[in-house]
Amino acid sequence: MTRKFLLLLFAIIVLSGCVNKEDLTIRVAIAGPMTGDQAKMGMDFRNGVTLAVDEWNARGGVLGKKIELIIGDDQRDPKQAVSVANKFVTQGVKGVIGHFNSSCSIPASDVYNRAGIPMITPASTNPELTEKGYPGVFRVCGRDDQQGKVAADFVITQLKLKKIAVIHDKTTYGQGLAGEFKKFVGDKAEIVYYSGIVQGDKDFKTVLISIREKKPELIFFGGIYPEGGLLVKQAREVGMTVPFMSGDGVIDPKFVEIAGAEPAEGTYLTFSPDPNSIPTAKAFIEQYTEKFGELGPYSIYAYDAANIMLKAIEAAGTTEGKTVMDRLHSMEFSGALGSIKFDGKGDVTVAPYVIWVTTGGKFVEYWKP
Ligand code: ALA
Repeated sequence: MTRKFLLLLFAIIVLSGCVNKEDLTIRVAIAGPMTGDQAKMGMDFRNGVTLAVDEWNARGGVLGKKIELIIGDDQRDPKQAVSVANKFVTQGVKGVIGHFNSSCSIPASDVYNRAGIPMITPASTNPELTEKGYPGVFRVCGRDDQQGKVAADFVITQLKLKKIAVIHDKTTYGQGLAGEFKKFVGDKAEIVYYSGIVQGDKDFKTVLISIREKKPELIFFGGIYPEGGLLVKQAREVGMTVPFMSGDGVIDPKFVEIAGAEPAEGTYLTFSPDPNSIPTAKAFIEQYTEKFGELGPYSIYAYDAANIMLKAIEAAGTTEGKTVMDRLHSMEFSGALGSIKFDGKGDVTVAPYVIWVTTGGKFVEYWKP
């Protein structure tokens, strides 16, 4: 080997050791249930964030570097969420979009807080997440104390019901939402049944038969669509025809697919207003549907969360966590959903929940408080 060749080889080895991929890119992560029975939600997140990151990279990235998207699969499991969060820390992630489930976002937020990494969840609605006082925790969705109140107001003032059964999936979100609903119903109606089911179970007929005996006029469920779909399907199978009601965790076409369009007919759901009626969402909806097909409930939230994180990094002029968090707190963002501003806790200043109804296998906006 010639001396020249050896020198070249030496230079390559030294350079490849000094310049790793991490220094050439800015790593932003997305976390949610990418596999398992809630994988549809993970896919909606991934699609929304991918669209945002692709747009930024087409414009040259952020702070003069390309954005590298790291994907973490928490499988809707709190322990897995913590291990995903720890991995992000070792990978040098500068901002996290996630998680989906409050039961994952809350323990993962402890990890991000210790590491000084800002997180924006598109979908975790349990109040506790932003009540912990972490400076780097944000959500672009509303909270279950807002969502539960709208659900209770609707049942009391519009449906004028007097006997209600409440079921939840024992998770932070499901139990929390059921609790908020019950609290806002207060003494205006009788809660004739209140209990939990186990997430992942497939047969709820025994529970439904006990509920049937209490003769409720509506069943409220705090939980996600896999169990929500089965509960509605099996309620009809045991002869219950009363309406079913739930929240943001159930409003997905998968719910109708599992329940069947006929059993799901008339199901009430709390969620934010239809993005199709938001003028600023038009361009996003067109691009998203062209690339990925039908919008999921949280696709637009994931897209806006990613844009907000990247705009804050750009405005901060650095990826240093504390500086980015300060920007997130102080800036007003205009996204596909319109204007978004965070309050001191990291919650959005406006969270307009409305009632949707399931009809002909589709979700239609039904009532605004
Ligand atoms: N809103 C649901 C949760 O917080 C998805 O877990």
